[in-house]
Amino acid sequence: MMYSLGFAALAALAVAAPTENEKAAAKIAARAPCSSAVKLTAGSNPFSGKSFYANEYYAGEIATAFADVSDAALKAQATKVGKVGSFLWIDTISRVPLVAETLGKVACNEIAQIVVYDLPGRDCAAKASNGELAVGEIGRYKSEYIDPIAAAIKANPNVAVALLIEPDSLPNLVTNANLTSCQDSKSGYEEGVAYALKTLNLPNVAMYIDAGHGGWLGWDANLKPGAEGLAKVYKAAGSPKQVFGIATNVAGWNAWTQTPGEFSDRSDAKYNKCQDEKRYIDNFAPALKTAGMPNHAIVDTGRNAVTGLREEWGHWCNVIGAGFGVRPTSSTGHSLVDAFVWGKPGGESDGVSDPDAPRYDSFCGNADAFKPSPQAGQWNQEYFLALLANAVPKF
Ligand code: BGC
Repeated sequence: MMYSLGFAALAALAVAAPTENEKAAAKIAARAPCSSAVKLTAGSNPFSGKSFYANEYYAGEIATAFADVSDAALKAQATKVGKVGSFLWIDTISRVPLVAETLGKVACNEIAQIVVYDLPGRDCAAKASNGELAVGEIGRYKSEYIDPIAAAIKANPNVAVALLIEPDSLPNLVTNANLTSCQDSKSGYEEGVAYALKTLNLPNVAMYIDAGHGGWLGWDANLKPGAEGLAKVYKAAGSPKQVFGIATNVAGWNAWTQTPGEFSDRSDAKYNKCQDEKRYIDNFAPALKTAGMPNHAIVDTGRNAVTGLREEWGHWCNVIGAGFGVRPTSSTGHSLVDAFVWGKPGGESDGVSDPDAPRYDSFCGNADAFKPSPQAGQWNQEYFLALLANAVPKF
């Protein structure tokens, strides 16, 4: 429909419209860091009113992967994905310098998001993400990994930082204690996570400890020991104020809400009331409270747009057919969920699919796992394209 503006309205528009210079100045001001120290207070939502900082590492991976792609529309969509504020994984000592580099670029209206992931004997119940530090190398974890991360954050007191602490580690101690590798890792995980929580307990930081997902600690028999396992380490760290709660579904595939639950038709479903992540939070949060731990949460929705893809609930590797999920937001509709986040950077592999490669885990050879897939953390362009095609909402 055509319509016309009266003269007065046109004149008002002419006055109100900013010049190009003004627009550029506003853009620079919007990118400016805060001029005073940031203080995040447990009990208030650290993501509220903030934009999720989109780190250059993820955007760079996408830009590199699409450099020679001629389909302009596809390239534009992919570029949009790179503008989503996702977590940056510091998965090796060599990547620690990225922390300072990244924090130096975060604007005052933004929050940086970093995954702390380098425990000795990492990924004790699987092989795909076995780390660089061997069991027993706790001294190196503290001095070469956690200490310099803390120093980088201390050097940037005016930046808000969300930290996601050590995916899978404490849940593995709860449910995989039968494995020798997890028994061997136990003391290092507990000491390492406690040290991380204590050392990174800085005023501008909000920490969320990984708590697996509904199909993991959500089983009736796991809820209490799971909550107690996390609370034990939290207390060993001195109950640090900047621990806000837990992170769930990290690199996971569970829906936020789905009725009936994705695996509710299985014979063992009666032993699990946490058929989606909402029900997991609803059941696990009270257990955490009883155990004496803060129980706010962040939930990874980075790759959970499509469900019904896994043969088994425990399948975790490069699930075929997955799509990018809800974009990071602090509008979650749940009083305990501070944010839906993008924990796993979609497009980075969960594990290598070549049975002859080092760190091959048979889960990455399952029928529902995408092949070929490179080593964990490496870029997988075909998989990224599928996540994009299956995204809900669309890009
Ligand atoms: C890998 C890490 C990687 C992370 C994010 C993990 O599974 O082990 O190397 O940084 O995923 O993609």
